[in-house]
Amino acid sequence: MSNNPAQEHLKHAKTDLPIHELILQRWSPRAFTDEPVTDADLKTLFTAASWAASSSNEQPWRFIVGRKGDASYEKIFNSLAEGNQKWAYEAPILFVTVAKKTFTKGGAPNGSAQHDVGAASATLSLQATAMGMHTHGMGGYDKETVRAFFGIPTDFEPIACWALGYVGSPDSLPEN
Ligand SMILES: Cc1cc2nc3c(=O)[nH]c(=O)nc-3n(C[C@H](O)[C@H](O)[C@H](O)COP(=O)(O)O)c2cc1C
Repeated sequence: MSNNPAQEHLKHAKTDLPIHELILQRWSPRAFTDEPVTDADLKTLFTAASWAASSSNEQPWRFIVGRKGDASYEKIFNSLAEGNQKWAYEAPILFVTVAKKTFTKGGAPNGSAQHDVGAASATLSLQATAMGMHTHGMGGYDKETVRAFFGIPTDFEPIACWALGYVGSPDSLPEN
């Protein structure tokens, strides 16, 4: 867990139901600190994601990961809608989820591919919460720009962009 004082901005959903602490603590911040997410953390997070359930165990999820300062981060950031760029620049990690739309064995369409990518993203988000980090999904981005930047083949579909890191203070963000 982070010792960053910005963690005072953590939220906690209120309920009388016996919902697990991890689920209560997950939320989508816009402000992130510059505390880096290590390679070991990323390995843990994406391995956790890969243990989500999937139709026929196809595991149709793919992740394109950018670390602030590298070319992939730049490409993901430049694909985001303006409203998301206003805050996502603080995130130390940006990643794109991609679905493989057909089954590897036989090539039939996989109608569960998007669902399963969502399951993997949710699994990753809870693992991130357990590690003191937060995620923020973004549907506000240009799919075709992402496809072109990364040369994503037609058999694959970009699903969402995500910001990942340690929650920061909203005071660090522009007023709008
Ligand atoms: C697939 C997906 C797309 C989203 N798109 C955006 C987005 O473009 N911009 C944004 O600020 N939040 C976006 N969100 C965040 C949601 O608005 C947020 O998860 C929802 O309001 C619930 O809040 P919480 O995650 O803090 O519980 C998205 C979330 C998901 C899962």
